[in-house]
Amino acid sequence: MVQFTCYLVVLSVAAGGLAACTCDVATVQADIDTLVRQVTEFDNAIVAFSPTNGSVDDALAIHADATSIINTLNTAASDVEAIGEFSEDDDTTILSAIETSVPTVLVSLIDIIDKKPAFDALPICGIPALFLQDLQNLQNASVGFGNALINTAPDTLVANFTDLTNNIAAAFEPAITAYSS
Ligand SMILES: *[C@@H]1O[C@H](CO)[C@@H](O)[C@H](O)[C@H]1NC(C)=O
Ligand SMILES: *[C@@H]1O[C@H](CO)[C@@H](O)[C@H](O)[C@H]1NC(C)=O
Ligand SMILES: *[C@@H]1O[C@H](CO)[C@@H](O)[C@H](O)[C@H]1NC(C)=O
Repeated sequence: MVQFTCYLVVLSVAAGGLAACTCDVATVQADIDTLVRQVTEFDNAIVAFSPTNGSVDDALAIHADATSIINTLNTAASDVEAIGEFSEDDDTTILSAIETSVPTVLVSLIDIIDKKPAFDALPICGIPALFLQDLQNLQNASVGFGNALINTAPDTLVANFTDLTNNIAAAFEPAITAYSS
């Protein structure tokens, strides 16, 4: 009789830094650049995961990438809140930087759905459940960043950031649904 051992994978989300910062638009731009780099790493790790020979370590590296993104989203939200108020020009720059990065996020959410059978096939249970938690936390942290931008936007851009936030939140739903079953 073959027995599979089921390890409990313990989730640890490091607390985001809340240190006071002398934030300006360049800080937020740098946060967005970091997010693009981290989402690209997350997606590359998902795509590289071997459907026939993927390891638990490789899967946990994907989880670590997701955790890094969550921490950066939380940092970006607190940087935006620290600035408090954006000029229309600055916020237009931020809006377009985020809009430019959205396709990278969308691709990673499609790739993680495509790869689910490989994670399901791992000889320990808990990886798909861990990824479900990651996706929910990523969605929540994305909405948190979006809400910070909505709350600090000039009147003329509130609707733009609201649409962007709603679209990104909705983009997580197919992946969350896939990992919920
Ligand atoms: C499977 O993974 C192991 C350990 O990473 C490696 O040594 C082996 O060459 C891989 N086999 C294939 C067919 O990729
Ligand atoms: C969702 O994010 C907010 C910050 O935007 C945080 O306060 C809250 O704890 C998060 N909820 C969960 C379930 O992670
Ligand atoms: C904000 O949204 C409005 C209405 O969709 C659009 O006309 C405008 O160009 C957007 N502004 C920016 C900076 O993208």
